[in-house]
Amino acid sequence: MNVLEAIENRISTRAYLDRSVEKEVIQKILDTARWSPSGVNTQPWQVAVVQGDKLRQLSEEFLRLSTEGVKPAPDYDYYPGEWVDPYKQRRFQCGMELYRALGIGREDKEKRIEAALNNYRFFGAPVSLFFFIDRRLGKGSWLDMGMFIQSVMLAARGLGLGTCPQASTADYPDMVREKLQISDRNLLLCGMALGYADESHPVNQYRTEREPVEAFSSWYD
Ligand SMILES: Cc1cc2nc3c(=O)[nH]c(=O)nc-3n(C[C@H](O)[C@H](O)[C@H](O)COP(=O)(O)O)c2cc1C
Repeated sequence: MNVLEAIENRISTRAYLDRSVEKEVIQKILDTARWSPSGVNTQPWQVAVVQGDKLRQLSEEFLRLSTEGVKPAPDYDYYPGEWVDPYKQRRFQCGMELYRALGIGREDKEKRIEAALNNYRFFGAPVSLFFFIDRRLGKGSWLDMGMFIQSVMLAARGLGLGTCPQASTADYPDMVREKLQISDRNLLLCGMALGYADESHPVNQYRTEREPVEAFSSWYD
């Protein structure tokens, strides 16, 4: 698979096969992604690779906190407090497509909640990656993190694995840091489900849309 295909074919995978990922494969993904660029080569990425019992424990904790009504307290605001168009509309569209693929009707609140909770099960993936950044770094390093995270997804794609970046699994960063014994100096940016995709699952069979190039580019010749 060439790089253009990998970029175009990557999707957020939200159903996984019950198949573990070999340690060498995860190692290879990170070994590839470390070649991502970063300002003055700071390489700000810190990644926790979580699987097995630890992942099950984390999932239970996420579900417990959520069902007990503990308000998520992420380290930063990923989304705006108030949505404006065109982002509002795209967000709406994104949700509708997901629910349609899952066969969840507009009014079915319970099933929507259950679908959202599936984030805390990492969609059944055998591995979750958690991406941290040292709080002492500047905003620019967040760009580096984005590039690194995309590199991880593309490398995974190239090796035949699926991924889903997850802001949701950064909802309770204090709990994650405590369980993984990670210093409070490290800010949790997001998680990522990683595993072999269940290609037959309807949730993995739709494609989100994108605006055409003309809609977001200005050309000056
Ligand atoms: C940083 C980041 C966080 C995301 N968090 C979640 C999440 O918590 N749960 C989820 O189901 N999808 C999450 N997504 C996936 C987006 O919904 C998805 O990328 C978008 O709808 C485009 O679809 P595609 O990835 O299939 O191309 C996240 C994506 C990014 C980049």
